[in-house]
Amino acid sequence: MKVTEAEIVISAVSKKQYPGDMLPEIALAGRSNVGKSSFINKMINRKNLARTSSKPGKTQTLNFYKINQSFYFVDVPGYGYAKVSKKEREKWGKMMEEYFMERENLKAAVLIVDIRHQPTEDDIMMYDFLKHFELPVIVVATKLDKVSKTKRAAHLQTVIKTLQADVEDIVLPFSAETAEGKEEAWKVLQSFL
Ligand code: GTP
Ligand code: MG
Repeated sequence: MKVTEAEIVISAVSKKQYPGDMLPEIALAGRSNVGKSSFINKMINRKNLARTSSKPGKTQTLNFYKINQSFYFVDVPGYGYAKVSKKEREKWGKMMEEYFMERENLKAAVLIVDIRHQPTEDDIMMYDFLKHFELPVIVVATKLDKVSKTKRAAHLQTVIKTLQADVEDIVLPFSAETAEGKEEAWKVLQSFL
């Protein structure tokens, strides 16, 4: 896809703030600092439209990015960051549930995991949560640039096995650093739009 327009429409904390134009949406999900915002930026060729940081917890709201006037990427806060209070975690849970459970124009979720590591308990929980709501899940194993070429296939297998990914689920290696996997990711995303 050739992205000619990309703009932030709203940073929402509750459903009354979601955009009302009912365009299809693709939402991100994944651990804090795994590379969700970086994935969006690389896909749309913008350096820092979705704000990124080397410190976890950068994205705190549901950020709706309108792309080519035709769909939204929805960036979300990550999970699994230890230095978060119980109250903050509850707020996160409520915001995520409200969105993922109830949003009708949500077409698919992109679950970002780190290809260097075995998916965490939280990753497995998130995967199961998304599947429970019968959402198509695209697993993107990012930071591919950090794994040597000879080890990539094995790391990808670990991701698939640990998540117990369904055969119909797509698992894509990706790098926001080198753009490897970008064309494949667009192909898959477009099939849901
Ligand atoms: P939160 O908003 O805190 O949940 O994090 P996030 O998942 O949005 O992560 P973000 O995109 O902010 O990236 C976190 C860090 O990982 C940044 O320092 C990025 O530069 C780095 N990063 C993201 N993707 C890649 C990648 O593919 N390769 C490498 N080498 N670094 C990456
Ligand atoms: Mg982020």
